[in-house]
Amino acid sequence: MLMTAIEQAPPRQRADEPRADTDIATTRPGTPGGIFMRQFWHAVCRSRDLPAGSTKPLRIMSEDFAIYRTRAGVPQIVADRCPHRGALMHLGSVEDEAIRCVYHGWKFDRCGQCVEQTYPTREYLDLVFAYFGAGDPPPFPHFPHRTSPGLIQVWNAEHVPCNYLQSFENSMDEVHVAFTHQPGGSHAKMSVDLPIITAEETDWGMLRFGTRRTGKVRQTLHYAPNVTRVIVPPLAGMDGVGGWSEIYFSFTPVDDENHLWLITSHVEVSGKDAETYIAKRAEYDRKVAAAPPVMDLVRNIWSGKLRFAEATHPDLAVVQDIAVQAGQGRIEDRQNERLGRSDTGIILWRRILTRELRAIAEGRPAKKWQRPPAEVVPTLGF
Ligand code: FES
Ligand SMILES: [Fe+2]
Repeated sequence: MLMTAIEQAPPRQRADEPRADTDIATTRPGTPGGIFMRQFWHAVCRSRDLPAGSTKPLRIMSEDFAIYRTRAGVPQIVADRCPHRGALMHLGSVEDEAIRCVYHGWKFDRCGQCVEQTYPTREYLDLVFAYFGAGDPPPFPHFPHRTSPGLIQVWNAEHVPCNYLQSFENSMDEVHVAFTHQPGGSHAKMSVDLPIITAEETDWGMLRFGTRRTGKVRQTLHYAPNVTRVIVPPLAGMDGVGGWSEIYFSFTPVDDENHLWLITSHVEVSGKDAETYIAKRAEYDRKVAAAPPVMDLVRNIWSGKLRFAEATHPDLAVVQDIAVQAGQGRIEDRQNERLGRSDTGIILWRRILTRELRAIAEGRPAKKWQRPPAEVVPTLGF
């Protein structure tokens, strides 16, 4: 039997919790939040969505860019407008290793020749990452991945209509699984009891523990500032092949009211099992492609046309998560919450964010974030 939410909800916020004067949700340029976030690499799109020779507009942390991939296959991000007379760069064309502006044909190479600004752009785990901060970027890749044999599998890229922090916080909130994902879908088997949540700050982010009644502990990693690494059950449509996988969630701010939810994973399969998995995955991808967009279902749930518990979709867990998280509002009102015991991870992360943003705002030294060690990995806890 599940405990009720009431039984889970004790202490009111403590006096040292984030005050209203620190905006922990914004990532606009020049704000403490924007300066904080620009210290890190950010996932910006899936590799597969940027074929060689293509160009696209890109909006990250309230700033506009153009992203393209050279003929040789190298991704590159540049400022959104041409330095000549401000034409949109993503209207241009890729010529070998350069991009040519559509207006008067000025040509820009990857070293920033003729271009006002290029941004360090790399690829890892089938995602494109970029660095938008001042000075040299931190080492890349900025987090390790599982090295045992397996497949790297990238999942849907969702544009979520709310602030990134809501979804990053959701990933720290293991207790929601038993309620939000209870109506079927891939997480149903995690809904057996409610874990007790504890968390601790590390020199690379936050470690969070979910302790079950059995005494088993599930360890989840939250890499600063917006990546969660966790072990999850196979998605509903993938049952029977591939087993559990390690998933890397990136919550990248588009602006303060939207973010990209990019999901990539390491599925531990090899040999014949890998072939079976790939075939099953192709079938799953076909189902997702044929299904209505996730946001269509979410809007129908919000408007009351579709009951939450009756929604069906090959990506049901994603529909459920977005309905709940983006349903909190574009930027959740954090001043009027009543945080409970299950919010321990969220409370700690807000405290860390608030401390860092205040240090930035007041010109005091901020934390020197370290690259996470490869040996700290998520655990199953079942
Ligand atoms: S505006 Fe780009 S070449 Fe003139
Ligand atoms: Fe969820």
